Parts: sequence; structure tokens; C-alpha cells
Amino acid sequence: METKLIKTENDNYAPLCEAAEIIKNGGLVAMPTETVYGLGANGLDGQACRKIFEAKGRPGDNPLIIHICDFESLDRYTNITDINDKELVYKLSRAFMPGPITMVLPKADIVPAEVTAGLDTVAVRFPTHKIARELIRLSGVPIAAPSANRSGSPSPTCAKHVMDDLSGRIEMIIDGGECEIGLESTIIMPKNGMIKLLRPGAITEEMLSEFAPVEKDKAITSKLSAGQTPLAPGMKYRHYAPAIPLISVKGPEDKVISFFRERLSEGHGVLCFEEQISAISEYGGRESIFSLGSRHDAEEQGRMLFGVLRRIDNSSLDVVYSVYPGMKGKELAVYNRLIKACGFEVIEL
Ligand code: TXA
Ligand code: MG
Repeated sequence: METKLIKTENDNYAPLCEAAEIIKNGGLVAMPTETVYGLGANGLDGQACRKIFEAKGRPGDNPLIIHICDFESLDRYTNITDINDKELVYKLSRAFMPGPITMVLPKADIVPAEVTAGLDTVAVRFPTHKIARELIRLSGVPIAAPSANRSGSPSPTCAKHVMDDLSGRIEMIIDGGECEIGLESTIIMPKNGMIKLLRPGAITEEMLSEFAPVEKDKAITSKLSAGQTPLAPGMKYRHYAPAIPLISVKGPEDKVISFFRERLSEGHGVLCFEEQISAISEYGGRESIFSLGSRHDAEEQGRMLFGVLRRIDNSSLDVVYSVYPGMKGKELAVYNRLIKACGFEVIEL
């Protein structure tokens, strides 16, 4: 199949009508969101959703997020019976939706098992991105969409990443430029007066804790041992299985810099903070030093991470040593993606 690439300009969303027709007819459309690009299908059509798994090579036990464009849909596709849970969800949705957050809630019967991978809960997200919202509205159905990468690749943050991974496998890609956030949404499960944090994102633990105590799933910061399962099935996958090994390096700044210099002199690669480049640039070429953005700007790191991981993958290096990111506030989302990309391998200096 030939994948059609379309663009909307100057807030003219007319080209999206064709994309909505594809969704209505059971086809696949990759759409931009403020987090990452999603691979969308009609979320009420089990057969259409099955095509998502095929196109991505996604394991069948990993459920999809449905994307909605109004608050009524949150009620329509979920079935929260507990009154206190309902109140907490109401407060959280008014505070953070639309936005980069996904809530895992008891599902309504109308949501097909292909979306939830047979679970009795459904993940729901109300994105801010205008194109995503307009496409959902024009389609008249919720759009089930995982990140639009091949399984095992970093999530796509621009249309080219989607093209590289899925060209020829899906009907259409809507080019909406670079994603503003660049990391996937925060996933939470609000229940029994608590908020379980399943995946960190731009809505942070600190922001959520204004509403209820937050409990972080262990899978966010540590490798699960055999037999342990994360709350979000997708968190058990490494996501990005780099062709080139990536190893994180932790320690005092002077030791990290010397370590980077030595490894660069040996011809290996380094993924570092922007502020570190001048101290190591004499020791390696442009092709072996990658910037993760400013050490003081977790949002910039978030925007840059997946693109830089793709560039590393396309390089001819044998191993890349990476900085050990922070874990506070918005840094936790970067930490989680990077440490997983490293397979939790850390060298302590
Ligand atoms: O920002 C995002 O969330 C992007 C954009 C496209 O919206 N989507 C995204 O989808 O990252 P995906 O499929 O790559 O990640 C969805 C995660 C997976 O880890 C999956 O296991 C989890 O959500 N998930 C989905 N439904 C769930 C459920 N019922 N219970 C627990 N986890 C669930
Ligand atoms: Mg994904």
C-alpha cells in the first residue's frame, strides 16, 4: 500500500476530511499529538484496531489508548461505579484534560477487547493538539492510537520518523511538524483515593499529588525481575532495543568528563548535556558526540531524546555512553525512557 502524506496549513483543517474517511472505513492514519505521533484507528472497531498491532508488530497483550475530544466521551467509554473514584477522576480531568495525561479506568462495554487487550480497564486520553482533536471530531469516533513507531523503535516525534517506520504499512500520515513535548503522556490509574503512576510524563508526580497521594509503579525506575509485571503492560517492553548498546554513566562531574574523554578517544560515542560539549569536543568528532539538551531544561531533554536515540541508531558507532539524567519533576519522564533504552545498565564512577 502507498502511504499518503498530508499537511494542514494556517488552521485550515479541510485536508483532514480525507483522513477521517479512512478512520471511518477501518483504515490507519498516523496523527500528530502534543506528546508523540499516534497511529490511529476507529477505537470502536475491533477489526480496525487489530490492523494497528499488525502494522506496528505490537505484541497482542499490550493495550491501546483511546483518544477523545470532549469530556462527555470520558463518561461514554468508561464505567466508574464508585462515587469517590468518580469525584477524583472528575477533579483530575478538569485539571489536566485536555493535555498530556492518560487515565486508566474501568471500561464501558462498548469498548472492544482489541483495544484493552482483554483487560476490564481502558486507557483514555484527551489531547490538546488541534489536528488530533479535529480528526477525532470529524471521524465521530474515539481514535485508538499507540505511538506510531514500529515496535522496538523510539516513539516518533515528527512525520519523518513515522515515515521511516511505517511507510507502506498504513494509509496516511498527517504531518503536523515536531511534537511540542516529545515524550509519551503520563499514565495514571486513579482509584481508592490514590493515584497510581504507571508511566511518567509532562504531568508530574508533584502536580498530581495536589489531588491525592501518588504511588509510583516500580517499573518506572527499576528493572523488573522475572515474574514481576508492571501495571501498564507496555512498560515491560524495552521500547527501544538499540542496535548500538547504550550505557549510562553516573558519578561526580569531573570523573564523568574524564570518562567521556577517554571513551571518545577510543572511538566510542557519548550522549551528553549541552553544557558538557565544550569540555569533551576535542576528544571526538561531531559524529560521535550527541546532545541531550541543557542539563537545566528537562523539557528540552524531553523534546530531544527520541530524535537523538534515532540518530544514534543510524550511526556507525559500536557503543554510546550516556549521561545519567535527574529524577526530579519533569526529569523523571526523561530518566525513565533513557534508563530503559540503556536496559538499566549503569556504570558508577
Ligand atoms: O502520549 C501518548 O500516550 C501517546 C500518544 C499517541 O497519545 N500514545 C502512547 O501509546 O504512548 P502507547 O501504546 O505507545 O503506550 C500506551 C501505554 C502502554 O504502556 C500500555 O500498556 C498502557 O498504555 N495501557 C493501555 N491501556 C492500559 C490499561 N487498560 N491498563 C494499563 N495500561 C494500559
Ligand atoms: Mg509506544
